[in-house]
Order: sequence, then C-alpha cells, then structure tokens
Amino acid sequence: MWPHMILTAGPSITEKEINYVNDAVTHGWNERWSEYIVKFEKAFADYIGVKHAMSTSSCTGALHLAMSACGIGKGDEVIVPDQTWVASASVVRYVDATPVFVDVEPDTWTIDPDKVKKAITARTRAIIPVHLYGRPANLSAIKDIADEHGLLVIEDAAPAIGALHKGIKAGKWGNLAGFSFQGAKLLVTGEGGMLVTNDDDLFAQARHFAEHGRVAKGFDISDIGFKYKMSNIQAALGLGQLERVDELIAKKETIFNWYLQRLGDVEGLSLNKPNDDETKSIYWMSSIVLDRNFGISRDQLQAELKAVNVDTRPFFPAMSSFPMFSDADTPVAHHLAEKGINLPSGHARTEEEIDYVCQQIKRLLKVS
Ligand SMILES: Cc1ncc(COP(=O)(O)O)c(C=O)c1O
Repeated sequence: MWPHMILTAGPSITEKEINYVNDAVTHGWNERWSEYIVKFEKAFADYIGVKHAMSTSSCTGALHLAMSACGIGKGDEVIVPDQTWVASASVVRYVDATPVFVDVEPDTWTIDPDKVKKAITARTRAIIPVHLYGRPANLSAIKDIADEHGLLVIEDAAPAIGALHKGIKAGKWGNLAGFSFQGAKLLVTGEGGMLVTNDDDLFAQARHFAEHGRVAKGFDISDIGFKYKMSNIQAALGLGQLERVDELIAKKETIFNWYLQRLGDVEGLSLNKPNDDETKSIYWMSSIVLDRNFGISRDQLQAELKAVNVDTRPFFPAMSSFPMFSDADTPVAHHLAEKGINLPSGHARTEEEIDYVCQQIKRLLKVS
C-alpha cells in the first residue's frame, strides 16, 4: 500500500513565488500597493495575447462581471454545456438570465457545436463554451455559429490556462473569458481569477461593474456593481506562477502520458482525448470514463481506490439534474457524470505513484 494519500490536485510552489510574496507582504503597501497586480495583469494579457486583463477574486467573479459587462439580463438565454462546474451556469442566473443546457461531445467532453445550433432561439444572447479539464472546446465552430447568429461568446477557461485551439490560446477566441487560480488549478493564488478581453468597451464596462458601478475615480456610483478584487499579495504569487507556466503545463502533459501508456489500451476505458494538430489540452486533470460494465460501479471503484490511498474525484453531475435549473436532453453529460473519474494529477505526482494508481485501477477493473 502506498504510504500516503496520492492526491488528485496540488500546486507547485518554489522560491520564486515565496520571494515575490515576501516582497509583497513586506513592501507592497502605500506607493507600491498595486505593483504586483499591475505586473500580473500585464503579463497575463501578454501570455494569452489579449489587450486587457483584470485580476479578480475568482473565475466565478470574472464570469459574473462578463455577464454584466455584456448587459445580459432578464429574458435572455445563455447556452451552457450540461457537463461543467456549477459556476458556469450560476453566473447566468446571477444576472437573472436563463441557462439553456446543451450536451457535450462523447470524446472531448466539451460542448457539441451541432447541438448548440439547435438550442438557439430568438432570446439567445450568448454561448459559454467550457474548456473542461483543460481541453479547449471547438472554439472555431462555436465562434462561427455565434457570428452567424449575432451572439456573444464568453469562454469559461477556468482550468485551461495555456490551452490552444488552432494555435490560438483559449481565452482569446471569445468576446470575454474567465480563468481560475483556485488552489487546485494549474496556476494558483489561493483563490483568484482573471477576466480577459480584446474589446475596449466591454473591458471598460467590466471595470465599471468591478468597482461597485463607479463613474470615475471617486465615490460617484451609477449602477449596482460588485467587488471581486485580487490583492497585491495574491498577485505576487500569481506572477511567480505565471513565469513558470510552461514548466507547469509540461508536467501535466507528462502525467497524462504516464496514464496513457498504462491505461490507453484498456478496452471500454476512455481517457482525455489526446492532443492533435488543432487542439492542445493542458490536461489539467487526467481522467477516465468507464464506458462498459467492469463489474464494479464508478462509486465503488472510487471507494476501493481511496482504501489503498488513491484519491479521485467524480466528474460533475449534469447541471440540468439540479433543482434550480431546467431539465435537458443530454445523455452524454449524464453518462460522464455517472462514469467519469479525475485521477491524481497534482504537480507533485511521480511516475512511481502513477504506476501504482494504474496497477490499482487495473486490479479493481480486473483487466491487465
Ligand atoms: C469549469 C469551471 N468553471 C468555473 C470554475 C470556477 O472557478 P473559481 O473557483 O475560481 O470561481 C471552475 C473551478 O473549479 C471550473 O472548473
């Protein structure tokens, strides 16, 4: 038995981040109160290839600001994949609009563009593609549909920092996009997020709502706004992490390849779809889906793995199964919700650990 729990997630923090945070804590006040915030936002915008980036306290906050900046509200519909974290749908409700759930593709686990087309009505205002587990949705197809119907695209890129579709970074395709630096993500700031856009007007509107609906510098307010700020100390951590982004993505890819070598040939077991010329996932979470009956349920498999010190996470339930939302005909999202598992994918994972995890999975599934 492995001597400690092999966790699904966990960051990589080095002296670089510690030094930046120390500097921010010690000196990042008064005239220097926003120095790391400014540097982090600029470096992040440059990395994604967009004009504007605004740090926030979470990706949820960034997506809420995106909804508000676009003027989405009561009576509007927003198309959301049914397989995602609830934040992608909750932000639609925050502005009193209605999320319309659409199924995902069985191999990419991201929103199915053909089904998006069928879900469009006269009330549709926007599409929120979600780059689940670090794989970008089919952004070119979604952008084409949005352009044809005059819709906005707001990318939920929470787990997909550095992912590419057709050579362009996730986050650069949409009118706006949100990223997450919550403690389990590729880059962490404890909690945190980033809103990005190339659109000057949308950015100005987002900034307005992010500052409590402030008219200009000063205390005049013209709208009910919000406060979703990131601190200078968190931004120092984020900057240090961003300067290591290539190394951190490379480790995720290495972990996925360790799984692929060991589990890729098991009949009836799907892993994340491997990258091809069009798509570069960052494999934030290496995952498996039990596509046939292995004589053990997904939940039993997770419990048995836990008993031998292997931590896993189930895929998200289908959003349409929650009481606050409307039903949808989304068999793929439901299948993934019942049969999908995220495997240990934290930065500290070693090949020996992954070897052990795969041996345990094969033992419990009774495959070789
Ligand atoms: C797909 C997706 N969207 C949104 C979020 C929300 O991010 P945050 O926790 O920073 O608000 C997450 C976080 O796990 C996520 O996985």
